[in-house]
Amino acid sequence: MKKAVMIIIIILTVSFLSAQKFKNLAKTPPMGWNSWNCFGPDINEKLVKEIADAMVSTGMRDAGYKYIVIDDGWQIGRDKKGNIIVNKKKFPSGIKALADYIHSKGLKFGIYSDAGRKTCQGLPGSRGYEYQDARQYASWGVDYLKYDWCYHGKQNSEASYKLMRDALYKAGRPIVFSICEWGTTKPWKWAKDIGHLWRTTEDILDCWDCINDWGGMGWTLILDKQVGLEDYSGPGHWNDPDMLEVGNNGLTTKEYRAHFSMWCMLSAPLMAGNDIRKMLEGTRDILMNKEVIALDQDSLGKQAIKFKDFGDYEIWVKRLKGDELAVAFLNKGDNDFHIIVKWKNILRKFGLSENIYKVRDLWKHKSLGTTKTVFDSNLGKHDIILVRLIK
Ligand code: GLA
Repeated sequence: MKKAVMIIIIILTVSFLSAQKFKNLAKTPPMGWNSWNCFGPDINEKLVKEIADAMVSTGMRDAGYKYIVIDDGWQIGRDKKGNIIVNKKKFPSGIKALADYIHSKGLKFGIYSDAGRKTCQGLPGSRGYEYQDARQYASWGVDYLKYDWCYHGKQNSEASYKLMRDALYKAGRPIVFSICEWGTTKPWKWAKDIGHLWRTTEDILDCWDCINDWGGMGWTLILDKQVGLEDYSGPGHWNDPDMLEVGNNGLTTKEYRAHFSMWCMLSAPLMAGNDIRKMLEGTRDILMNKEVIALDQDSLGKQAIKFKDFGDYEIWVKRLKGDELAVAFLNKGDNDFHIIVKWKNILRKFGLSENIYKVRDLWKHKSLGTTKTVFDSNLGKHDIILVRLIK
């Protein structure tokens, strides 16, 4: 009898110990760069090193973007022992050397794989090789894994992602685990203790509100799908509305400003998806606006709620630490709006109506008075006004 109890205790302890993720990572939404949105599978060592250099020289690293993630297209097969083979034409020095280079710049390194048999580009996935791949990543010095969901067949999503989480944990190197299951089986309901972030939708496209038959949509449509997910996001476990399209030329600077503002309001991971080597001034000003990034990185980790929806015109509010708020007035439509807002109505909703705040415009970098006055402004087509109510 005693022996049986002992065995049960041992089994419970072992399963408890193995069922963990790295808890001290991604306490604020991860920031970095990912190769997919701009380069697709056409990636190589020279390009990624140049991006790493540019992350430093442009000031992106110092603005907080630290993970350089290579997406699909770096792998080519498996050897007889099942080890993943790197495409040597693209990465002649191998992944470890690239990771070392990136680390030497004060940046962190991320990689991509898939929970199914193949990646979305038809390259080898990690199905059946989870522990072996995780050990390999750890030995290369990987700090971040984006784990996709193509070719999953009849696999159970939760079990598949748990398996890789356990493999990463066993490999022992702290790795941010980014679940890319496109929201298909509502990962916000099961992934809190499995990954540090999870995609909530199909792929983002570089447009305002287009939709593709094969999947993918513009950022405003992705935004619509974040309503109702607010309570699932927080320090160490973030809703991920996909990587940024800012600077990829499909939208105007003003429209990208709105996209970036809303991603920061959502506490979204900020993975730049543009060619950092050739950034225009407008793109730099957006991606490196410290006051806007501060909303995203606020330690409270609260996702914004849609406070009012007037059709094309919406008001979003994000609670910040120290009883402050961020408010976004977003015009998704083609007509101008004249906004008149009594701040008290917004403050009341958050139980803060007794306070008086300074109103700061985070794109114009100037004060707009206090919450004692009525806010009266014009909001142009596809534009945003983003303010912080400061105590
Ligand atoms: C899926 C993902 C994308 C990207 C590609 C790579 O579509 O959602 O973000 O990783 O695969 O093939």
